[in-house]
Amino acid sequence: SADVVPQAPEDPLFGLMAAFRRDEDPKKVDLGIGAYRDDNAKPWILPVVKKADDIIRNDPNLNHEYLPIAGLTEFTSASQKLILGGDSPALKEKRVTSLQTVSGTGAVHLGALFLAKFYKPDSKRIAYFSDPTWPNHFQIFSNVGLSYKTYPYFSKETKGLDFDGFYNTIQNADEGSIVVLHACAHNPTGVDLTQDQWKKMAELIRAKKHFPFFDTAYQGFASGDLTRDGWAIRYFIEQGFELCIAQSYAKNFGLYGERAGCFHFVTSPSSDAQSTVGRIASQLAILQRSEISNPPAYGARIASLVLNTPELFAQWEEDLRTMSGRIIKMRKALRSKLEELGTPGTWNHITDQIGMFSFTGLSEQQVTKLREDSHVYMTKNGRISMAGLNTKNIDYFAKAVDKAVRD
Ligand code: LMR
Repeated sequence: SADVVPQAPEDPLFGLMAAFRRDEDPKKVDLGIGAYRDDNAKPWILPVVKKADDIIRNDPNLNHEYLPIAGLTEFTSASQKLILGGDSPALKEKRVTSLQTVSGTGAVHLGALFLAKFYKPDSKRIAYFSDPTWPNHFQIFSNVGLSYKTYPYFSKETKGLDFDGFYNTIQNADEGSIVVLHACAHNPTGVDLTQDQWKKMAELIRAKKHFPFFDTAYQGFASGDLTRDGWAIRYFIEQGFELCIAQSYAKNFGLYGERAGCFHFVTSPSSDAQSTVGRIASQLAILQRSEISNPPAYGARIASLVLNTPELFAQWEEDLRTMSGRIIKMRKALRSKLEELGTPGTWNHITDQIGMFSFTGLSEQQVTKLREDSHVYMTKNGRISMAGLNTKNIDYFAKAVDKAVRD
């Protein structure tokens, strides 16, 4: 009966968003959820998205029919090219199957569900997540019955990567484990591997026969360069790995609520790779059909039009540079303001880290203080969404941090 249902805790990120909305103080600052804001702290509709939206709305042939189970074909094939590169050996050899999903969350879920069903029975396969990671990873994997552990990732001392800890844990993991990797702009730390470190990790993952599971939600958002942000995945493909990719368009298109995303499964090169990929596609289609039947059309239509139209694609790249450029400016400004104030500690990590987030190193107690004294909202692990900072609130925020650190 309903009596046995226990109360669950509120989702930390969406709970934070609700608390921010309730706060009536005009000085309040929202550095919680990872969503881009302009210099006036307002949501930003990318100009290219506005343009694509106008074109789609005025199309007399537009209707609201079902999409195929695997989604809009123009969208999934453009998504493959975007993440793998147009000249990817995996695409040439037809070793990739892709399904449109309910954004990145849906893609992670579909991948986890597939692995739980087909890759678990022969072993006690478990998944490894970075410590810390996007908290939803834990729930999504455990919901489909996969167990997980974590690998060290963030060094509290350097506020950078703990590569040795990461490496040793993956080396000691049981053969054939699933290793979940953030392709770029790691959430929540903003700390990425160098290309050299990726190469070492790829070698180790191969030696241990692990399965790489890439989560990519920030392509083009980290460096402003789509190719550079896709480098790690492309490198793994070049090395012939079998792997999967969960791709989100929430951040890089600002299509948060439209839930546009894609799941890709890439098989390794072999003589029967095409037949393998066909069998995998058939199973993924059944999983998708049973869960969402077919994906939502609107966001995918917008992304697809942009990805498949060269002039719109060029404008999108410009919009990406606008977003990543403003964030980089805010990183520089925050670091120099904290250094000017002489705030105890070092602040170089603010500009060393990349992407939407900075992992400030502030303690849970300091985070609480910032919220209570200054109406600043951030997750309790000290993560800030850099996009919440702007030329109007950055002085206020730096002074609030200075005060919280000194108290
Ligand atoms: C975040 O980490 O803030 C975003 O990815 C939003 C979410 O869905 O958690």
